[in-house]
Amino acid sequence: MTQQLNIEVRLKDNGYIIHIEPGILNRLGTIVSALGLRGSATIITDEQVGALYGRRIGSSLANTNVEMLAMPAGEQHKTLETVRQMYDGLLRLNRGRDSFIMAVGGGVVGDLAGFVAATYLRGIPFVQIPTTLLAQVDSSIGGKVGVDLPQGKNLVGAFYQPKVVCIDPTVLATLDKRHLSNGLVEVIKHGVIWHEQFFRYLEENVELLLSLDHETLVETIGRSCRIKGDVVEQDEKESGIRVILNFGHTIGHALETCTEYHEWLHGEAVAVGMLAETRIAQKLGLTTDDTFRRQEQLFQKVGLPTRLPPMDMERFQKTVLHDKKNLQMKIRLVLPVRIGQVQVVDDVPLSLVSETVRELTSQ
Ligand SMILES: NC(=O)c1ccc[n+]([C@@H]2O[C@H](COP(=O)([O-])OP(=O)(O)OC[C@H]3O[C@@H](n4cnc5c(N)ncnc54)[C@H](O)[C@@H]3O)[C@@H](O)[C@H]2O)c1
Repeated sequence: MTQQLNIEVRLKDNGYIIHIEPGILNRLGTIVSALGLRGSATIITDEQVGALYGRRIGSSLANTNVEMLAMPAGEQHKTLETVRQMYDGLLRLNRGRDSFIMAVGGGVVGDLAGFVAATYLRGIPFVQIPTTLLAQVDSSIGGKVGVDLPQGKNLVGAFYQPKVVCIDPTVLATLDKRHLSNGLVEVIKHGVIWHEQFFRYLEENVELLLSLDHETLVETIGRSCRIKGDVVEQDEKESGIRVILNFGHTIGHALETCTEYHEWLHGEAVAVGMLAETRIAQKLGLTTDDTFRRQEQLFQKVGLPTRLPPMDMERFQKTVLHDKKNLQMKIRLVLPVRIGQVQVVDDVPLSLVSETVRELTSQ
């Protein structure tokens, strides 16, 4: 029975530990001081998460000079303007190079606070306290930090690793069900790209997972972090194998763009993207129908969409072709060979992608 897990991410210069433990929010003070972070702490969070957990985190850091800066919640605030407001706040609080930042929130807060930490006074240490499932299994690991520009998402950023990641699965109790399912997509994706046994574990434990059973959560988050950690360790700056984390994302991103980011959460778009890309793999003779069915059944159990909405196909095709993972206008896709193994295919015909998307569009 797994009560708590510590996962090590071993990088060339900046390795760190991911602690997964119910109730860890209450002992953050001990953890950061053991790391030598003894200066002033600044919690960067959003208003929703700050209202729920700010006070508790503040008291766990009782021996530290701690202040909180809260941004409004939501992707539309992951901007340079919010970054500037955070710099203003840090200067107002007289934060120097001996201070550190605690990013407390979902992926929006983690990306933005990490970027602030990477750039304020040419970089001060930061700690990730992810509070959505997506942030716990994905965005808080790997060191990608940044913000959006009006021209597109995540266009400004850096690779900047946290000193430690502290994951408290009990905070998921206040997260709405839709955001929980959103995070589960990345968990399921980790099983498909890396580990059949983990995928089977998810098939067998999905009900316990959805009921937020602590042991199942610790085990699931831990295994998922280990997989992302393994991939990041092999390719810290995304120049090689890390591309496999993009499984489902090429079609998923195009879908998000074509629906103007209104209807679908990122994970929901990636779920149907994974199914579409699996069907393409099947048509190319790379995998069997079983690979498609197992993912579809798991998504259905979690309450995720399994079909695409009707879209302007011309726009969809243009968007897919401009996806930054395409080389020389050819469609490059990460495709499953079986559950647990993927392969990068550089030359997928656009007609095959469009045909498959049409077939998987709900009527
Ligand atoms: N850096 C990376 O490698 C990486 C990877 C994937 C995604 N991302 C980024 O992550 C972002 C999406 O993150 P997200 O899905 O966590 O969304 P989010 O940060 O917007 O959080 C979703 C909502 O949940 C609320 N919330 C957070 N934790 C809560 C809790 N415990 N209880 C109640 N409410 C809570 C937030 O206030 C927000 O309203 C995107 O900006 C995306 O670009 C980054």
